[in-house]
Amino acid sequence: MWEYTDKVKDHFLNPRNVGEIENPDGVGEVGSLACGDALRLSFKLDATKRIKDVKFKTFGCASAIASSSALTEIIKGMTLEEAEKVTNQDIAKYLGGLPEEKMHCSVMGREALESAIANYRGQKVTKEDFEVVCKCFGVTDREIIKAVRENDLKTVEQVTYYTKAGGGCGHCHPKIEALIAEARKEMEKAKPPLKAEKKRLTNIQKIKLIEETLGREIVPALKADGGDIDLIDIDGNKVYVALRGKCSFCPSSEVTLKQYVESKLREFVSDEIEVEEVRQ
Ligand code: FES
Repeated sequence: MWEYTDKVKDHFLNPRNVGEIENPDGVGEVGSLACGDALRLSFKLDATKRIKDVKFKTFGCASAIASSSALTEIIKGMTLEEAEKVTNQDIAKYLGGLPEEKMHCSVMGREALESAIANYRGQKVTKEDFEVVCKCFGVTDREIIKAVRENDLKTVEQVTYYTKAGGGCGHCHPKIEALIAEARKEMEKAKPPLKAEKKRLTNIQKIKLIEETLGREIVPALKADGGDIDLIDIDGNKVYVALRGKCSFCPSSEVTLKQYVESKLREFVSDEIEVEEVRQ
C-alpha cells in the first residue's frame, strides 16, 4: 500500500473539476489506456486571457486522479504564460507530496497541460517528432530528458518512477542510461560557476576578519536571544570563544557553536576555521 497524504486522499475521493469543457479553447491528451494511465484536459479562457474554467477526465490510479484534480485547482485564474511554468514538482507539492513511485502521475498532469496550451496556440507536438525510447510505455527521449532535468533524476529506476519508461521488458534501460548521462552533462554545464575560492589571508587579516564577522553577524544574533560571545584567542585556524548570558548555560550551546558560530566564520573567513569553547 502507498502512503498518501490527506490532501491526496481528499483530491482522489472528491476530485475537483471533473468533466469536459464545452467549446474549449485548448485540449490536451496524454497517456493511453493500454499503458494504464490517460488524461484529457480542456480549458476555457476569459476575456482577459486567464483560465476561467478547466476540467479533466482521467483513467488511472488514486494519485493520477489527485494530481489531475490538483493541477486544475492550481492553474485556474492563471494566464497561459503563468500556467506553462507549473512543474510536476508544483503539483506534487500542492498535494503535500506523492510517493516517488507515483511521481509519473504529476508528470502526466504537466504534460497534459503543455499539450492543451500547444493545442490553443495551434502548435502540434506529436510523438513522431521524437524518438520513442520505451516501446512498452511509448515514452520519448524528450519526455525522459525533461523529467531528468526538472526532477534532478540520476537512475533508471527514478526515470521509471517519473515517466514509466523502463518499467516493462527493460530493453530500453541502456538507452535511458545514456539519456540520463547526456542530460546530466548538460545540467552540469549550465550550473553557475562555484563561488571564487576565498583568498588566502595573512594572520593579521584573518584576525581582523574574525573580529568583524563576530561583531557584524554573530554577536547581534546571539544578543537578540539574550546571549553573547567573547573572543578569547586565535591560534591558526582555531578560534577560542566563551559564550555569555543565556548561551553560557543553554543545553544547545554546542549546536550554537558548531552550526552557527563556526559556519558563519567559515562562510566569511575561511573554510578551515574550527571554533572551540573556553569556560572562563
Ligand atoms: S521498452 Fe522500455 S520497458 Fe520495454
